[in-house]
Amino acid sequence: MTGCTVAIDGPAAAGKGTISKAVARHFGFAHLDTGLLYRAVGAKVLGGASPEAAARALNPDDLENDALRTPAVAQAASEVAAIPAVRQALLEFQRAFAGRDGGAVLDGRDIGTVICPEADAKLFVTASAVVRAKRRFAELSEKGISVTYEQVLADVEARDARDMGRADAPLRPADDAVEIDTSQMSIEDAIAAAVAVIEAKRGGV
Ligand code: DC
Repeated sequence: MTGCTVAIDGPAAAGKGTISKAVARHFGFAHLDTGLLYRAVGAKVLGGASPEAAARALNPDDLENDALRTPAVAQAASEVAAIPAVRQALLEFQRAFAGRDGGAVLDGRDIGTVICPEADAKLFVTASAVVRAKRRFAELSEKGISVTYEQVLADVEARDARDMGRADAPLRPADDAVEIDTSQMSIEDAIAAAVAVIEAKRGGV
């Protein structure tokens, strides 16, 4: 099977991560959750590092850390992600990953627009802010992280505004992305829709 680059973008907690992992498994592609790169930088900044130095010094071991999933780190990630020097420092790692033999799925905010503008298939996964906050609240509660639904909704809305409003690589669908709104979909249906879009693109080239 020939390789393929799949770009999956969308706002926080829309289901990108679950869909990306399932798509990677289905096609036998490698998967990179690029949000983890920004989260790892955000975590180092919360620990006192400078954003630019943290981004330049990042290594893959830094991504293997459960503490990256907390709401405080998510906000810090969204803040450092607005700094052009941070985005620049993380660019080559993402491009190298995307170019690996055998195919790769990258998920994030700017994969279809900036990191992989030539991706073979681009998806933009969305859901309403209320649905996303409910899902993220359930996820965090299950992990034993103590938050209220109202805090999670406020966090999701603040990140949306920052991620869409920044000047450098803002969150937006690429012109050739296919949008999947998962608000009313089960996760199985959302995965099936994503697989169908990618199969259609692969069949069409
Ligand atoms: O996907 P996530 O929720 O783990 O991402 C955390 C933050 O990182 C997100 O609010 C914005 C930033 N991010 C980004 O700017 N570009 C990406 N490709 C991925 C994430």
